[in-house]
Amino acid sequence: MTLKEYRNHFKSKLKNIYPEEEIGSFFYLLSEKYLLLPRFEVTFQMDLKLSIDDISKFDEALNQLEKEVPIQYILGETEFYGLPFKVNSSVLIPRPETEELVEWIIKDCVEIKQPITILDIGTGSGCIAISLANKIPYSKIDALDISAKAIEIAKENAKLNQVPITFSEQDILALNKLDKTYDIFVSNPPYVTISEKQKMQANVLNYEPHKALFVPDENALLFYKSIAEIALKSLKRNGNLYFEINEAFGPEIVGILNELGYENVTLKKDLFGKDRMVKATNLKIN
Ligand SMILES: C[S@@+](CC[C@H](N)C(=O)[O-])C[C@H]1O[C@@H](n2cnc3c(N)ncnc32)[C@H](O)[C@@H]1O
Repeated sequence: MTLKEYRNHFKSKLKNIYPEEEIGSFFYLLSEKYLLLPRFEVTFQMDLKLSIDDISKFDEALNQLEKEVPIQYILGETEFYGLPFKVNSSVLIPRPETEELVEWIIKDCVEIKQPITILDIGTGSGCIAISLANKIPYSKIDALDISAKAIEIAKENAKLNQVPITFSEQDILALNKLDKTYDIFVSNPPYVTISEKQKMQANVLNYEPHKALFVPDENALLFYKSIAEIALKSLKRNGNLYFEINEAFGPEIVGILNELGYENVTLKKDLFGKDRMVKATNLKIN
């Protein structure tokens, strides 16, 4: 079978599940991975004869795509902030809006010429911590997560990207105080309410870790409250706290941070104009 014949088969199997453009993109990604063809080459290699081994790899991926398994889990990898990351079903697939949070922090740090200490809470794949370590010279980064399996992947990703990060398996909700102080706290905690579940797509709902996503409706901001309280005791003077947030809760989160005594609380929209990030400064001496 040629690549062209397989592509036709692939498209017809998926056409009722995904938009045409997305199917095309899956096909490029799988061809890159299994045939080691650069994206621009795929179109020119349509007469390529596929081996039995190639076909069985494509078939396996096709089978998973039909079940709406996210392509990043099928490939076992993704890209975040221009860097490679391994992913599996123990970690959330890094999202573009999180790249905007990382961008904000990097811009704020660009002028600082001394070592910066950072704590990433709920690190998952390690995407935030690792991108910051890659882009902020002299940063010293710790990262924690409640999931041992996530920490395993995050460690692999730190190795892959050759950055030193200290990871630990911890439940942030069970911590009261930390034994270190930091210049920056950052977190993209779970923030989707259970009642928002029904609006979610099957590929997220059925395959991404629920512990990374969901919070109870009646206490949707529990992570923000806990992290902001801990950060208040463990952020250095003039240190900043950065959060990714659920667009539905911008003003409430700003209210919590103001009430706790943070200064310069700033709500920021993402590229789609949604309230998506918050930054706040601690002026107390810790
Ligand atoms: C929304 S995901 C973010 C993952 C990653 N930082 C990112 O931006 O893609 C939230 C992460 O918080 C972790 N988490 C959930 N509950 C936690 C807790 N009580 N303590 C620490 N981490 C927790 C989850 O395992 C998950 O990795």
